[in-house]
Amino acid sequence: METKKKPVLVTGDRPTGKLHLGHLVGALQNRVAMQNSGKYDCFAFIADMQALTDNAKNPKKIRESVLEVALDNLAVGMDPKKTTLFIQSQVPELSELTQIYLNLVTVSRLERNPTVKEEIKQKGFERNIPAGFLIYPVSQTADTTAFGANFIPTGEDQEPMHEQGREIVRTFNSIYGDVLVEGKGVFAENKACLRLMGLDGKAKMSKSLGNCIYISDDAETVKAKVREMYTDPDHIKVSDPGKVKGNVVFAYLDAFVKPDSFEKFLPEYKNLDELKAHYKRGGLGDVKVKNFLCDVLNDVLDPIRERRRYYENHIEEVLEIYRKGSEHARAVAQATLKRVRDAIGINYFDDKEFLDYYKNKFKK
Ligand code: TRP
Repeated sequence: METKKKPVLVTGDRPTGKLHLGHLVGALQNRVAMQNSGKYDCFAFIADMQALTDNAKNPKKIRESVLEVALDNLAVGMDPKKTTLFIQSQVPELSELTQIYLNLVTVSRLERNPTVKEEIKQKGFERNIPAGFLIYPVSQTADTTAFGANFIPTGEDQEPMHEQGREIVRTFNSIYGDVLVEGKGVFAENKACLRLMGLDGKAKMSKSLGNCIYISDDAETVKAKVREMYTDPDHIKVSDPGKVKGNVVFAYLDAFVKPDSFEKFLPEYKNLDELKAHYKRGGLGDVKVKNFLCDVLNDVLDPIRERRRYYENHIEEVLEIYRKGSEHARAVAQATLKRVRDAIGINYFDDKEFLDYYKNKFKK
């Protein structure tokens, strides 16, 4: 019996450091849930070529982060039995696809990509933008189309990439025939998870701003970071009324509280609304809310830590998982690339039509 082809899911992480709680709620939890649903043919990779586009002078950082990101993925529950886990640079077909797609976008369209624009500002490139960096949305389109991605679970900041990717797919298909698949971004449903703010409450959590809790932080570190978290500067005495909006502790509770969190750790309250109401009214101290947040976070992180410890002690197994996954990913990408080359007609040596046409044409 022929098995029906499942929709394809593709997602990736840039290895520029360890992954943090913003990644966890913004992308990883969704990725794991979709994997575990069994409904998709899943690919999750480490985008080291993309990381090099703005870190060419710091290859050591990328090399070290590849392993950290691999451990983070396995720790949160990505499972090599259910997902092809691979490393981008080990699938050189992606670079060839990128080269082909580059002819289908203009420099000005690339310069208009809002995420790229924002990053250019943030990284202080001004007019010295590495060419490889400017075109990474094109390489990202290769990453997804090589596997025929229907769904691309990412942080919502990636939507401009998905949009640009779909444009490239449509342009390609309209010129060369219907070969590539358009992918759709999938984002966290809980709005509080979309842009988790940093510990300082100033911006979203980001490695480069140093305002992160890492997925791999131990319980002590998490506790120390929560203690430092920005709350409401006017909430001085316990009896003072407090603000919930802009208060990092409550922003994290919005993202992390589960239906059973109160029963488990703070049974005097039924739910988050009750806790917030008390805080706003006055009479609820920051320390108590912070302790609750620590419990909630550690409840999520404990099983992740345990799996991470296992893989940290089995690095050979980790490398083997990614080696095998990269081989499989490569075979899939090769098949797509063949169809792409056939469609464009750059398949001279295995195209009988090409041979016959010219044999006839020059026949005397
Ligand atoms: N740009 C993504 C990020 O920074 C990482 C990434 C690279 C990616 N290639 C991808 C995500 C393909 C999804 C699909 O998070």
